[in-house]
Amino acid sequence: MKVKLRNPDRTELVDGPMNVAAVLDRLDVNPETVLVICDGELVTKDHVLPADAEVEIRPVISGGAGPARCHACERTAVIEIRRHGAAYCAEHLIDHVRGQVRTAIDHLSMVSYDEWVLVAVSGGKDSLALWDVLLDMGYRADGLYVGLGIGTYSSRSEQLVRAFADARQATLHTVDLADEYGYDIPAATALRRRSSCGVCGLSKRYVFNRVAVDHGYDVMATGHNLDDEAATLLGNVLRWQTPMLARQSPCLPARDGMSRKIKPLYRLGERETAAYCVIKGVDYVVEECPMVAGNTVLRYKDALNELERHSPGTKAAFLFGYLERARDRHFPSDEHDTAEVVACGRCGQPTGVREHGRGDPLCAFCRTHDRVLAVMDEPRGGAPVGAAP
Ligand code: AMP
Ligand code: FES
Ligand code: ZN
Ligand code: ZN
Repeated sequence: MKVKLRNPDRTELVDGPMNVAAVLDRLDVNPETVLVICDGELVTKDHVLPADAEVEIRPVISGGAGPARCHACERTAVIEIRRHGAAYCAEHLIDHVRGQVRTAIDHLSMVSYDEWVLVAVSGGKDSLALWDVLLDMGYRADGLYVGLGIGTYSSRSEQLVRAFADARQATLHTVDLADEYGYDIPAATALRRRSSCGVCGLSKRYVFNRVAVDHGYDVMATGHNLDDEAATLLGNVLRWQTPMLARQSPCLPARDGMSRKIKPLYRLGERETAAYCVIKGVDYVVEECPMVAGNTVLRYKDALNELERHSPGTKAAFLFGYLERARDRHFPSDEHDTAEVVACGRCGQPTGVREHGRGDPLCAFCRTHDRVLAVMDEPRGGAPVGAAP
């Protein structure tokens, strides 16, 4: 059989017939981190792949293996979720995803049906799944895509987000960093004091908030999932980043010009959102951003997946235990913050006064923006706008 693997893209030939678990073992692939797709359908570990099968092993980083019958209806399962000790058929996986989003929204009063949500959509599985679920659940949800100028990765992402918006007849806002602010993320690689991923995160958060506030959205939603949140928590714990620990929450209330921020997928693993997209026919960018190689969050995800492989449920217990039992008791938020927020002297967005000396305060985005434009002006400084990394 022909087995297509990703990151990097390659094809392996494996003698068949053979079941999925054996093929993964032969190729030394951790079943926790992939979905296996044969003829456009998801298959589970006991499924026997014929000798002439064309199989795709799609990385999603997460998940599990388990019983092959749907927990809800006894039909053949298409995905196992070991931390729930469950497996689902296609229809019930959709129900499971909606149910977890319902629980997240209701438990934390994230959003109501008469509010307007702005969903930040990157073209990846999580944010497209989130937009799709919110629309199906009847929420008023518009999208926002931020063009980062990362070569074909960005152009393909934008194309997929636009195709989704057209198909769902949904409103999409787009902000291109190069058009709007004169730089793109590859240009930021020339900065000495800040990583391009750091500039990317700062720029995205800034644009998300700005568009949400300027257009009067009640709430801003991102596609961060259980794996993202658990990995961020692990990173913050390993370095005892107490201010970040105090702020880590799937629902941050609005304050001082900052819109309310919600992460309705925080109870769902990456494998579940990827499976959701495959089942619903939502086309998403499978490849990772080419600039994140070596990113520390990816290393934390790998470490947690290794633990999860041997004890399913570890990730969820770590994150939910922190949110429900440890955060408020041990990492209360800094109440003095409120008094110290002022408008940035240039763009008017909120910023902390503590970060500045005398004179007009400049927000972190405006300061970084100045620095990126300055290195772009240096001879052989930044990469030209629009260049692939
Ligand atoms: P990341 O920081 O890439 O892990 O993405 C986390 C979340 O941020 C995604 O689930 C999206 O909701 C949002 N996001 C990331 N990149 C973009 C983008 N280029 N445009 C809009 N939203 C994005
Ligand atoms: Fe931001 Fe890759 S998406 S650096
Ligand atoms: Zn079922
Ligand atoms: Zn500013």
